[in-house]
Amino acid sequence: MDLGISGKRAVVIGGSQGLGLAVCERLAAEGVNLLLFARDSKKLDEACGQLRSAHGVQVDACAGDITRAEDIDRVAAQAAGNGGVHILVLNTPRPPSPMRDFLQENEDARWEQAYQQQLHGALLVLRKLVPLVAESGWGRVVAITSASIKQPMPRHALSTIFRAGVQAALKHLAMELAPRGVTVNAVAPATVITPTFSTFHNLEARIQSVPMKRVGQPEELSATVAFLASAHAGFITGETIQLDGGQTLALC
Ligand SMILES: NC(=O)c1ccc[n+]([C@@H]2O[C@H](COP(=O)([O-])OP(=O)(O)OC[C@H]3O[C@@H](n4cnc5c(N)ncnc54)[C@H](OP(=O)(O)O)[C@@H]3O)[C@@H](O)[C@H]2O)c1
Repeated sequence: MDLGISGKRAVVIGGSQGLGLAVCERLAAEGVNLLLFARDSKKLDEACGQLRSAHGVQVDACAGDITRAEDIDRVAAQAAGNGGVHILVLNTPRPPSPMRDFLQENEDARWEQAYQQQLHGALLVLRKLVPLVAESGWGRVVAITSASIKQPMPRHALSTIFRAGVQAALKHLAMELAPRGVTVNAVAPATVITPTFSTFHNLEARIQSVPMKRVGQPEELSATVAFLASAHAGFITGETIQLDGGQTLALC
């Protein structure tokens, strides 16, 4: 199926590895031009080279930290200089590792890091880049969050608490942008295999807790993000698609 987004311009936050890179691959395969944002320039250069040679689209990078307003201003300026943004993919960093129970989270630095990366950084991206998406008169905002926003999971407090704020921000934006041709949605994964995820010591136990008894593949996540970013998903907004092999037990 042609997703109808060839020639559009996307900014992918956290696009240099894992789920973000899988999304870049999928969008580039659809003919979308990309601007990747992450901290490590070397990893960004490798990802850009790989995407350009495989798909022949325009791929640029901006090195920066999601928690720094000046870095988000820079990526916004670069995107504006490239002609604007049609698709924004918000992929925040992972929460501090290892994950712990709420009452064992007694280090202020871990709370601060989780707040900065999950919520403060996400709000900076939404506040500074969504206006560019809205300017183009057609747009898609897709956030990669976590299945825990619908059904909190053990040891995920540092993820769930701040992502709930992101979810609220997405709902506000969905309402405000609906009349302007911009949709705002989220994909909420659990147990999707990435290089980082595969290092978790309890991986086998986690797989056994998935009704499908397997991990999800990054390509399954990126296909869902690409659908929400596509021309076909124009009447879907304010939604979250769980991508977790049936782990979320909430009714809706
Ligand atoms: N896989 C799953 O099943 C699952 C489940 C629930 C939630 N998630 C969430 O999905 C997201 C992506 O997961 P992943 O496994 O793909 O993560 P990952 O492999 O750690 O990749 C994270 C990406 O974000 C960039 N990044 C990290 N810290 C950053 C910062 N401070 N500023 C800017 N960019 C930063 C990284 O590049 P640099 O390090 O170079 O900056 C990289 O490009 C995470 O939020 C994770 O918690 C995943």
